[in-house]
Amino acid sequence: MNPNAELGPALKALIARADQALERVLPAEDRSPPELHRAMRYAVLGGGKRLRPLLVYAAGHALDHDGPALDTAACAVELIHAYSLVHDDLPAMDDDDMRRGRPTCHIVFGEAMAILAGDALQALAFELLAEVPVDAGRTTTMLRTLGAACGAEGMAGGQALDLAAVGRTLSLAELEHMHACKTGALIRAAVRLGALASNADPATLATLDRYADAVGLAFQVRDDILDVEGASEVIGKTAGKDAAADKPTFPSIIGLDASRRRLAELVEQAHAALASFGEPASLLLELAHYAAQRQR
Ligand code: IPE
Ligand code: IPE
Ligand code: MG
Ligand code: MG
Ligand code: MG
Repeated sequence: MNPNAELGPALKALIARADQALERVLPAEDRSPPELHRAMRYAVLGGGKRLRPLLVYAAGHALDHDGPALDTAACAVELIHAYSLVHDDLPAMDDDDMRRGRPTCHIVFGEAMAILAGDALQALAFELLAEVPVDAGRTTTMLRTLGAACGAEGMAGGQALDLAAVGRTLSLAELEHMHACKTGALIRAAVRLGALASNADPATLATLDRYADAVGLAFQVRDDILDVEGASEVIGKTAGKDAAADKPTFPSIIGLDASRRRLAELVEQAHAALASFGEPASLLLELAHYAAQRQR
């Protein structure tokens, strides 16, 4: 297997840190209403690559910063991501019954509880982020950053574009815009939140945005390729769903070879954006390669 398809020890340790932080912030299963709390925990724990938390921590690392604000930001962004997956899998959306190698949230808990679990995870993300241990001005910026990333011009908007595109042919520019919203916005927010928690100045934020935009798009191009090439047991979700649902994707619009070339270009762009950071950006660089070469 390609070495970049696996994460190194530093990032593996940060996955464990993210998992522990998530375990701490999620409500206990026996809290009332227990069914809702169980569904929330099911959606978040027990699987997931934790790419967005890793980007939060890696952005902190690039700025030589560490501390509890990174854990708060990492949890907030992963809770939003988990909520987006629960809703993405609903019958009204992608109608998927497998996620992270297990039955999807609505298969286990029913549709109504899955909708509510997603709602509650989204609310919890903002509740947590409101308490992030940074100064009040920065807290407001972080809340606004996450809100914009998951709203109508971010993830939710991208999901709307995705649904509207079923059965249609998009231009490459339209496809990239859809991906930038549905997946890219939250990935950009993860990097930004890590940087904001690390007192980044505006110029640094702008540089990191260029990195994040390349990684965000690479991540979704890889997702589209894995839907074609991956095996369900490996990717942990039903392979071949995009074609079956007639979704425009990178492979369907430009073909697999051109999709792979685009991926290589995007990794190059991410790499170039990090040039001024040097060694401290090593984890961000590793994540760019991972996003593009992951096997699941
Ligand atoms: C899947 O995201 C949905 C997309 C945005 C393409 P991930 O591939 O990060 O899912 P998990 O968290 O590892 O399950
Ligand atoms: C999902 O994109 C994006 C969000 C959840 C916002 P996909 O529909 O391609 O993700 P998978 O393939 O189901 O994980
Ligand atoms: Mg979808
Ligand atoms: Mg889907
Ligand atoms: Mg997909």
